[in-house]
Amino acid sequence: MNAMDEHSRSVWMDVKVASHARPLEKDLAIDVVVIGAGIAGLSIAYELLQRGLSVAVLDRGTIAGGMTARTTAHLAPICDDTLAELLSMRGAELSRGFQDSQSAAVDRIEEIQFREGIDCEFRRLDGILFLDPTSDKNILDDEFKAAAKLAVTVKRGKGLPLVGLEDTPYLRYPNQATFHPLKYLQGLCGAIEAKGGFLHPNTAVDEIQEQGAGVRARLANGHQVAASTAVVATNSPIHRTTGFHTKQAPYRTYAMAFDVKNGEVEDKLYWDTLDPYHYVRVTAGPKGRDRLIVGGEDHKSGEADNAAARFVALDAWIRMLVPTLGAETHRWSGQVMDTLDYSGFIGLDPDYKRIYVVTGDSGQGITHGVVASLMIPAMIAGDESPYASVYDPARKPLKAAGRFMSENITALSNAASYLAPGEVASVEDLYPGQGAIIRSGLTKIAAYRDENGRIYQRSAVCTHLGCHLQWNSFERCWDCPCHGSHFAPDGNVLNGPAVTALPETEN
Ligand code: FES
Repeated sequence: MNAMDEHSRSVWMDVKVASHARPLEKDLAIDVVVIGAGIAGLSIAYELLQRGLSVAVLDRGTIAGGMTARTTAHLAPICDDTLAELLSMRGAELSRGFQDSQSAAVDRIEEIQFREGIDCEFRRLDGILFLDPTSDKNILDDEFKAAAKLAVTVKRGKGLPLVGLEDTPYLRYPNQATFHPLKYLQGLCGAIEAKGGFLHPNTAVDEIQEQGAGVRARLANGHQVAASTAVVATNSPIHRTTGFHTKQAPYRTYAMAFDVKNGEVEDKLYWDTLDPYHYVRVTAGPKGRDRLIVGGEDHKSGEADNAAARFVALDAWIRMLVPTLGAETHRWSGQVMDTLDYSGFIGLDPDYKRIYVVTGDSGQGITHGVVASLMIPAMIAGDESPYASVYDPARKPLKAAGRFMSENITALSNAASYLAPGEVASVEDLYPGQGAIIRSGLTKIAAYRDENGRIYQRSAVCTHLGCHLQWNSFERCWDCPCHGSHFAPDGNVLNGPAVTALPETEN
């Protein structure tokens, strides 16, 4: 269990994936080393094994214990930034490629769960985009026209069986899907191991380098993995690379689950037209009841520490639509990497010849992860991918130059925050469970007092590229607003791109 799990628990986390797997504690030689055991890394490993390659998947945490365990698993191929936005940003050809690839990913999940006999509650269902009363009334019209241009099937409708939405216009996208993500990955891991793949949790990788005709992954425990090829499938790339961190930005999103009578809310995927939008789905709960899952309230990582208020807002919003909702059962948050043009970066890292990357989930992490599994194994085998230009890691989205400037303002304003005063005067001011920044001369300290009164004092400077960390009181971790690293109160890395723990320091 990492520090985040103590205070935040998703509705999926009762399912433990590959809990028998052990850390790698010896040197290893393999065809492909995959770093990151989320949906992307595991799906890529599965496809590589199908091609007869030997594969090891390494993760600094548990298998499928990162952001994949925090998804709400809307398997909707529809671009969640709207099809109209996608079309205007990327043009018809690339937008069609995006939609085709996302649909192919859902088809592939359906095929694999059937072929491998994985009981993961996979099902096809409608996706419903409904108009929020405060949104521009033209949004749905624009979306309808964009869908037609992209050959996406959509129907208009009016009135949903939710309180206050009885006359609300909506668009209905048939043939979307959903599932239980960790049940799926539990089955996928079984298939990976049955085909001879290796899964190694709690195996942190410090460095990945090309060497001779292959790659070498240096582990934090001193061992190394030699491989022909590496795939970096961490939420944000952990290897030395120049091309990605200025083209994507980390956002926190919040989710809650509630007990509700079976069938009370129709089994569909719902989302509205707000920005950030709300998203809603149903999953099976215990004793014949359902769980209603609602998410939203997104903000830039590290730029707010008011999760409680965001959960209050989510609770109020969903209870307005479903007044019969029962007790809250889960609340959690996760991080998504938003790119400038709504599509991930998948393929060969342009800085290397044998290191592939998948990042920039754009809030559609499950489908993006599986798209990567359709592309990268084919590319490693020397085949062309029909989606290569959509997700080209080297692309520089010129139309998104304005967003580029605003996303990178985070790094600039973060640099200014070095000069700001500390949040508390000394560690004496910390109550149990609290973290805060303390100024000590020119230095800033990330200080935390645990429930037993033990004090941790670490550098408040992110070990990735030096941004200034912010305390996240809900997850009880330090968030980096620049590129998405998370650190535990004791300084250990929870989420990359950082790979080095925060050094100890003293007031
Ligand atoms: Fe890049 Fe912190 S994640 S500076």
